Amino acid sequence: MTTFTKLSDQETPAISIHPSRRISKINPNIYAGFTEHMGRCIYGGIYDPGNPLSDENGFRKDVLEALKELNIPAVRYPGGNFMATYHWIDGVGPRDQRPARPELAWLGTETNHFGTDEFLKWCEILGTEPYFCLNFGTALGWVEYCNGKGNTYYANLRRKNGRQEPYNVKYWALGNETWGPWQVEQMTREAYAHKAYQWAKALKLLDPSLVLVLCGQDGTASWDYYTLKQCLLPAHSPLSTSTVPLIDMHSIHLYTSSPSHLPNVTAPLAAERAIEITSSLIDLARIENGVPPGQLRPTICFDEWNVWDPIRAEGSKGAEESYTLSDALAVAVYLNVFIRKSKDVGMACIAQSVNVISPLMTSKDGITKQTTWWPLYLFSRFMRGWTIGAHVACGTYEGETSPKWVRSVKDTPWLDVSATLGDDGYVNVAVVNIHEEKDLESKVDGATGEISVFTVTAGDVAASNMKGKQEVGVTESTWDAKGAYLFPKHSLTLLRWKAE
Ligand code: AHR
Repeated sequence: MTTFTKLSDQETPAISIHPSRRISKINPNIYAGFTEHMGRCIYGGIYDPGNPLSDENGFRKDVLEALKELNIPAVRYPGGNFMATYHWIDGVGPRDQRPARPELAWLGTETNHFGTDEFLKWCEILGTEPYFCLNFGTALGWVEYCNGKGNTYYANLRRKNGRQEPYNVKYWALGNETWGPWQVEQMTREAYAHKAYQWAKALKLLDPSLVLVLCGQDGTASWDYYTLKQCLLPAHSPLSTSTVPLIDMHSIHLYTSSPSHLPNVTAPLAAERAIEITSSLIDLARIENGVPPGQLRPTICFDEWNVWDPIRAEGSKGAEESYTLSDALAVAVYLNVFIRKSKDVGMACIAQSVNVISPLMTSKDGITKQTTWWPLYLFSRFMRGWTIGAHVACGTYEGETSPKWVRSVKDTPWLDVSATLGDDGYVNVAVVNIHEEKDLESKVDGATGEISVFTVTAGDVAASNMKGKQEVGVTESTWDAKGAYLFPKHSLTLLRWKAE
């Protein structure tokens, strides 16, 4: 948790870090990814048979190697909007017998050459947990196919397709953005809440080890209030136990962007307020429904987040964003939010992991790490363990925000800060100086010894890695912790030292 005192721009900023104040454990799942059958994410992204860069499975080795650097704990699949009309059965069995189908979310053709077994094998190679998003109607057979241990039809079909042992897929989302007018089978909140609860029962009867994620909206909508109220109920044996609820997590999504730097980098603060509101809605549902205190409190699954302007990078054209330094700093602010709110966030999935609104791009000949790769890399490498107490005093940006409502509910400080204490005994402090023109000098109380410094910045906020050279990366240096540290304009700085 980071507390804040607003100063005038004439006063000197101050940061203080309190490693002994451990606030909450950071769930490693905040560094989860997302791969959808959309654009070039699967085909030409993670799966590219015949390319000399691919292995015998058709998996791009350069993509796997790069993603391993991010130490991704879980990957959501196969959508997204794609999930609305997908039937998993089309994507299993001998490849030459799989049907090609019209694809209605992004208006292409789905060959089904890549499906459940390929994705789960890819996850095993990457060393990550699969997180499946289901649609109602096809879900029970899919769970049985993936996790069934008995002598039953779909478990046997999996064995026939070459996989003897169950995959034990743990995370399952109960639909995706079912509130959205773009969805096939868009639902009212009443219809969704009823269906989700009934399907959750059936799924947990089939496999009680599943972790089920309710489909929320953006965390600030009446949809979120209603679905939580209807579905967070006292546990009923044998569907759930007195401690384990039927619904384990509530999903929310947010994409932000602005062509202007300061609205762009302050936009992710909408995610912070959305998490706070959702957290209160979870409590409210528990209070109103009389959920006993011993029953585990669901967490928030922020399973789509990123910088995305869907007009600039249209979904049906593959949503290939070309990210700037400003976008990288916005991603750093999102990650600061997830660290500050670690008590509530059980998982967060950057949307998406390859090519589609992604930090990692492929061509036939190799990969490019976009600007947004670098904050993700630094956070995933260092910002783990415990969220610890931090205090920031500095001036604030006072202009317009996007969404507009951020201005009326949040401070937007020049220095956006989060801090962690790792299990290795190191303190890590992430500081985003969002100012476009001013370096900001600040003491960092609590910093001690030799400080390792990692900086992400460039000459200007429009710098990009998509013009044939890497304009944005990480530079490493040290600081002796004496006096004040000069946080460069438009930069992310990660300070790291051994706790005393
Ligand atoms: O991530 C791209 C799309 O954005 C997803 O398919 C959908 O869930 C969201 O609207």
